[in-house]
Amino acid sequence: MIPSVLPTYSRAPLHFVKGEGTWLIEADGRRFLDLGAGIAVNALGHAHPALVQALTDQAQKLWHVSNLYEIPQQQALADKLVASTFADTVFFTNSGTESCELAVKMARKYWYEKGQPEKTTIVTFEGSFHGRSSAGIAAAGSEKMTKGFAPLLPGFKHVPWADHEALHAAIDDSVGAILIEPVQGEGGIRPLPDQCLKGLRALCDEKGIILILDEVQCGVSRTGRLFAHEWAGVTPDIMMVAKGIGGGFPLGAVLATEEAASGMTAGTHGSTYGGNPLACAVGCAVMDIVSAPDFLETVNARAGFLRQKLEGLVAAHPDVFEGVRGMGLMLGLKCKVAPIDVVKAGYECGVITVPAADNVVRLLPPLNISEDEISEAVNRLDFAADAVLEAQG
Ligand SMILES: Cc1ncc(COP(=O)(O)O)c(C=O)c1O
Repeated sequence: MIPSVLPTYSRAPLHFVKGEGTWLIEADGRRFLDLGAGIAVNALGHAHPALVQALTDQAQKLWHVSNLYEIPQQQALADKLVASTFADTVFFTNSGTESCELAVKMARKYWYEKGQPEKTTIVTFEGSFHGRSSAGIAAAGSEKMTKGFAPLLPGFKHVPWADHEALHAAIDDSVGAILIEPVQGEGGIRPLPDQCLKGLRALCDEKGIILILDEVQCGVSRTGRLFAHEWAGVTPDIMMVAKGIGGGFPLGAVLATEEAASGMTAGTHGSTYGGNPLACAVGCAVMDIVSAPDFLETVNARAGFLRQKLEGLVAAHPDVFEGVRGMGLMLGLKCKVAPIDVVKAGYECGVITVPAADNVVRLLPPLNISEDEISEAVNRLDFAADAVLEAQG
């Protein structure tokens, strides 16, 4: 008999009932250090007082109004995002994949309005992940995500990661946009080198192509800058955001330049919940904290500390781990064993991590994790690595 919850997830037998900062508490009382943070969602950990306050204050006043009316919390969050980024304008969604939908629509509408409706192709990269909607799976293109779901949304060309020649060969007059994650998340924590992002920007400028960055996982201060592309010193035309921006409340956004957004006039897009007062009240509280320079400094210091600890872990377990990669607090442990074995052993040792492709275990802790918590989490990973080796005999 089919379970009452559609069985699309392989769930771990863990039943968390409470969260406190970097800690998750299981129904049986066990305490876990959460280095997954809901896959980069709980950017400020669990039950952060400022976010609880923002949510409950707003909940006392007004939960929802339609986008038929003005929503001051939405305006305030858009103003903060515009003031802190390349963007001139913001549309709010509820998830990453909805941000992908709009980014694709916006790019195509741009060229339609410019009188070049043939520029519908969007170049994307193997190993990428942009969500589970029809545009999201077509954009990623992997068999794993698309098998059985044909006909797929047309107009995507997939090129291998880091293959400069293939990228250039894919560019023809039909290409209207390039869509890329500055750091691939699901693909196995693969950062795009700054030089490549600069090169992509130059290519887009030369050929008149829209550059769309998917910062759903790597954005919102996760890499130590408010958005990951800032490290390369270039800006996109359109950017997808979600996950961390709501700190655990469902919220996403598409940020764009005035030019890239010029086709999106009244009536061309909408969302019942997107930019809801509760979500935006929380989003404002998140932005106030994560965009502060001293917060970013601390993220970078903690990231250095975690990375150093992980290098030690890798050196101590050369049969389990191959290396550390990633940026900021978006780190991956490349494994010599099945990553899921490390993740499961971590559960036994009271530490939460997340598997990714390319034999990687992901570490995406809350951005405000303390040094003591990092040390304790890596101790627990050390025990987990021992357990994996023992189990293999
Ligand atoms: C880079 C990236 N884009 C898009 C998505 C889709 O986001 P959501 O699951 O909120 O639809 C994800 C989710 O993991 C992601 O990592």
